[in-house]
Amino acid sequence: KAMSIKMYVNGSDRKGHINPEIYGHFSEHLGRCIYNGIYVGEDSNIPNTKGIRNDIVEAFKNIKMPVLRWPGGCFADEYHWKDGIGEKSQRKKMINTHWGGVTEDNSFGTHEFFDFCEMVGCEPYLSGNLGSGTVREMSEWIEYITSDNDSPMTQLRKKNGREKPWKLKYLGVGNESWGCGGNMSPEQYSALYKQYQTYCRNYGTNQLYKVACGPNGDDYNWTKVITENITPWHTNAVSLHYYTVPTGKWEDKGNATGFTDEEYYITLEKTWYMETLVKRHCDILNVNNPENNIKLVVDEWGTWYNVEEGTNPGFLFQQNTMRDAMVASINLNIFNSHCDRISMANLAQAVNVLQALILTEGEKMILTPTYHVFDLYKNHQNAELCYSSIEDEKQEGYNLPVISQSVSVNSDNEMTLTVSNCSLTECRTIEADIRGFSFDSVRARILSAESNAHNTFDEPENVTITEFDKITKIDSGITFTLPPCSVVEIILS
Ligand code: AHR
Repeated sequence: KAMSIKMYVNGSDRKGHINPEIYGHFSEHLGRCIYNGIYVGEDSNIPNTKGIRNDIVEAFKNIKMPVLRWPGGCFADEYHWKDGIGEKSQRKKMINTHWGGVTEDNSFGTHEFFDFCEMVGCEPYLSGNLGSGTVREMSEWIEYITSDNDSPMTQLRKKNGREKPWKLKYLGVGNESWGCGGNMSPEQYSALYKQYQTYCRNYGTNQLYKVACGPNGDDYNWTKVITENITPWHTNAVSLHYYTVPTGKWEDKGNATGFTDEEYYITLEKTWYMETLVKRHCDILNVNNPENNIKLVVDEWGTWYNVEEGTNPGFLFQQNTMRDAMVASINLNIFNSHCDRISMANLAQAVNVLQALILTEGEKMILTPTYHVFDLYKNHQNAELCYSSIEDEKQEGYNLPVISQSVSVNSDNEMTLTVSNCSLTECRTIEADIRGFSFDSVRARILSAESNAHNTFDEPENVTITEFDKITKIDSGITFTLPPCSVVEIILS
């Protein structure tokens, strides 16, 4: 018999708006994320539109991908956008020194990225080059993309086939400026940030939402110093990067598959550390920005394992199991629960890199367990977070909550509960007391498999979403039993 746990939900106690961008993604010029991933070129036999894989566009549309960050990552601080426009055969080649030392032909540039975002229907989020680019270069990129005036930059854009400006909201000014983006101190970065962002103008009706480079994990001093120097006048948000590395050691991070139960629980324990990080950085923001108009953008998160055997170590290609699905579920519930301060989050990365949504091999494509979690959570986008809590129970031997959850109500008056059970051996019966919300119908979907289960090119549907009908409506709400290692989406209406 499954152990029973009480959950409390109040639909009329609203805690804040869940920005769709919390369900955002990240695509870097790294390994096979862009080239031989999203972008296969117009001459490819793989069905594509302007060189962009149609199956990937469809998959991203299905999860309502709200925003995509590009071109990096570390790559962004050595990317020179003018090398990636104009006639493709004339584009300058470049060496991707960060990732595998490969030569790129710059055939995927600004126009291709904006085309891709238009096909998917998502917001573009650009990372500007502060590390090795100039103030003028960043300023002209914004002018090229967003201005409708007659100017050398807009003439150049028109010459390259785009008459009307694009809309661009999200702009990051430097990436990991404490590390690969220039090895700066927070004082040095704050000064440069203010200078660079000054010349990133709002043309016409376009309004930029600027993101300053925030801390590496628990570097609280970075957050403190930059928010003492950078004000809401200069920025809309600061970023946070935190990766879940099972061993905590970069030299040997642990493998994506074939892990033990202990490694599984430790990985989830490490991913729950996101809660501590978000809380503490928010504490600093609450001191330095009590008006809450400098938001937190977690623009890199996810698992980082050893690369798959036989693959280029610089390409960061890893498999994706049910453990990654649990990681995604836990993080997304954390982001939801802090939606008063978190305005965006971007999983690293979208295709073939780190905790990917999609893996490709030639024309084959698989959706990973992580992809399915984004599918299960899409109803939270644009909804209002509401009060929810669950009896505190820790996995024996670990500082790890067994259940992770969040609840929202959307504009169609649907209540969405996303709940996961990380135990590998025990079912949990959850009795959810639901106040402040009335409903007649219940529908639900589930993702559940053993921890190491994953999809392969031969077995692409090994881990996939199924209907979940083991829910009973009771006087006080609902009751349901979660199998071990499972993530569930329940919609009440
Ligand atoms: O996502 C891979 C890399 O991780 C990014 O390029 C960098 O920003 C971070 O260190």
